[in-house]
Amino acid sequence: MNNPVVLKIGGSVITDRSSAVPKALPDTIERLAGEVAGTCVNNPLILVHGAGSFGHPLASQFKLTEQFDTKGLIETHRSVKTLNAMVVDAFVSAGVPAVPVHPLSCALLTQGRISDMQTAPLREMLNRGLIPVLHGDVAMDSVRGAGILSGDQIVPYIARKMGAELVGIGSNIDGVLDSEGRNIPEITPAIFDRIRKYIGGSSHTDVTGGMLSKVQELVELADESGINSRIFDASAAGNIIRFLQGETMGTLIQKNK
Ligand SMILES: Nc1ncnc2c1ncn2[C@@H]1O[C@H](COP(=O)(O)OP(=O)(O)O)[C@@H](O)[C@H]1O
Ligand SMILES: [Mg+2]
Repeated sequence: MNNPVVLKIGGSVITDRSSAVPKALPDTIERLAGEVAGTCVNNPLILVHGAGSFGHPLASQFKLTEQFDTKGLIETHRSVKTLNAMVVDAFVSAGVPAVPVHPLSCALLTQGRISDMQTAPLREMLNRGLIPVLHGDVAMDSVRGAGILSGDQIVPYIARKMGAELVGIGSNIDGVLDSEGRNIPEITPAIFDRIRKYIGGSSHTDVTGGMLSKVQELVELADESGINSRIFDASAAGNIIRFLQGETMGTLIQKNK
């Protein structure tokens, strides 16, 4: 089997993040499914999507980053599972052999970081041509009881463990922007130290750290594992196709030269 492509689609792309109640963007989800269905790639694909308005407002309401809350855990998981079902249904309808994988059922956190995650089933899914679709979720934590597991953390974990060929995080913005709003085409660990002051959190209700946590995760991935990645605008039509075909866009994150 070729090494997989790991692609995350942000909650800001597939949901209305300004909504206080869960609100999906079905037309966009359908378009993304069509883009994946229509792209011929030689590598197996693992998809991860964010929780958007299906996760962040509930997690914030129940203070899930600070405390264990049984009702909050159940309601947040049920909500993100609903979004995941919409995504998987749209992909299957477009002819993509997608299957849901819920992180709550296969990942364990220790103080907020993944300490264990079942990836053997993912490997078997890929061997059989299936496309696993994971998502931002709540997850059990061996110290804190439970916590939030963001898609931005799942991506580098899987990329490392499965030796990803190509890694992408599609959000609602043209990659990482500088203080003047201009796209930064390339970030290395050395450059990151100089520009991190320009990178902030999300502009919406958010429990996972917005753009800064994406860049932190991916810089660490490049630095430690030599796996390069790209942050790009997945809300613009055609960009998923361009990413899968290896085109240059958004921000490339790579190790020091
Ligand atoms: N320097 C920056 N460059 C790009 N985006 C930034 C920057 N600083 C903060 N952001 C914010 O981070 C957001 C992306 O993170 P987030 O809202 O969590 O999206 P997603 O749902 O894709 O995870 C952007 O829409 C933007 O508002
Ligand atoms: Mg986010």
